[in-house]
Order: sequence, then structure tokens, then C-alpha cells
Amino acid sequence: MEKEGYKKLAKYYDEIYQNKDYSNEIKFLIEILNKHNSKKILDVGCGTGTHISLLEKADFECTGIDLNIEMLKIANKKVKAKLLQANMSDFNIDEKFDAIICMFASFNHLLSIRESIKALRCFYKHLKKNGILILDLHNSKTKGSKEDNFKNIYRKMSWDYNSGTKIETTKVVFRVPEGLIEDKHLMRIFSINEMNELLSGVGFKNIQILGGYKQKVANGDSKNLEVIGQK
Ligand SMILES: C[S@@+](CC[C@H](N)C(=O)[O-])C[C@H]1O[C@@H](n2cnc3c(N)ncnc32)[C@H](O)[C@@H]1O
Repeated sequence: MEKEGYKKLAKYYDEIYQNKDYSNEIKFLIEILNKHNSKKILDVGCGTGTHISLLEKADFECTGIDLNIEMLKIANKKVKAKLLQANMSDFNIDEKFDAIICMFASFNHLLSIRESIKALRCFYKHLKKNGILILDLHNSKTKGSKEDNFKNIYRKMSWDYNSGTKIETTKVVFRVPEGLIEDKHLMRIFSINEMNELLSGVGFKNIQILGGYKQKVANGDSKNLEVIGQK
């Protein structure tokens, strides 16, 4: 969703993603966080705060940032964490974290390499020495469409990938109780090579790129890329 889309749909977001397997993602995250003894976590693009609320239940200390205030208002009802409205490619919190997570394709909203480098530099700056970055990236290069029905919402989506611009464009129509909402969202799809180069260029070491939420090395067809780097 674009900025306006998240604004209009924030109150429906948790209903739309009620079947997303957040608990499996949390299991994956906790395994990595525990391995690195990370307790103090920054969730970038935290949205409505579902990862934060599950991490708090497991005793992690969290802070969240998101561009969209409407998403943060929903998150605020679910979490204890400090929540800040900020752009991931240009933020400054006077704190450093053991780990930064950026889940469910939030990073794919950065459409240019310049913006992604700026964001990675910000992440690097906000990590403690040896701190861990975990980016959960969308990795689709297909054309398709689908329809879903939720309790109060009907959604029709169609998407296409442009291999020249490396941008996936998704058009979505939502029928919500107030009427129709049309949205178009753009996502930059990053290759495994690009992510390796971007992270190492910013200074990250021990880079690993996994395919999905299992500890398996990614390939070009992996639906999600889990990109892990260490400061
Ligand atoms: C698909 S949602 C994911 C939300 C949450 N991480 C989750 O897993 O449910 C993407 C989020 O990224 C946020 N976002 C997009 N661009 C951003 C930016 N430049 N800086 C911070 N947040 C951004 C959106 O407002 C939205 O809340």
C-alpha cells in the first residue's frame, strides 16, 4: 500500500492479515535473536505492532518506528513499546539496539538504491557493535491476480513485475463498510546479489540470505528473502 493506502486501511490491516503466520515468523526471529543474545529490538516499519506485541510477550524490549501515524495509533493499543513516526531512510533515535528487524516487505517500499543505502546506513548507525539486522523482503517477479473475502472486507488485487525498473506494481480494490478504496502500491524487488552488495557496502559482515522463515539458503525463486547482517 502507498502512504495514503495505509492511512485509509490502517483500521482494517489486522483483519486483512489475520491469517498471516506471524507466530512462525516470531519463532524464526527469536531463534536468531537468542543466538546473538539480543534483547533490545528496534522494529522498523512496525505497522500495527504485531511483531512487537509477540516479542514483548517473550520478554524482549522493543521500540517501533513507522512512517504512518494511523498504523502507529493501532500499534499503540497493542504494545508497551515506545513508538515513533519516522522515515526508515532518515531517522535519528538517540539509542542503539541489539537488533533491528524490518518485517513483511517494509524495506521493499524504498524504491531507489539511494534510499535503500540511506536506510541501511541509518540501521547500521542505530545498532550496537556486533548488533544484528534482519530484513524480511518480498521476492515476487510474477504477474497475477487474486480475490479474498474477510469478515468486513472484500479485496481484489492484480500485480505485475517490471524487470527493467525491478518494481512490482500492485493495484488493489477494497470494498469496506464505508465504500470502495482503490490503492496502488509499488515495491522494489532486490536480488540476492544486490542485497549482498548493499549490506557489505554499508559495512555489515557475516551476511546470510535465507529463503523464507527456515534456516535454508535462498535462491532466486524464494518467495521471501530473509537478509541477515551483523555490525
Ligand atoms: C506491509 S506493512 C508491514 C507492517 C509490519 N511490519 C507487519 O509485519 O505487519 C509495511 C509498513 O511499512 C511502513 N513504511 C513504508 N515506508 C516506510 C518508510 N519509508 N519508513 C518507515 N515505515 C515505512 C508502512 O507505513 C507500513 O506500516
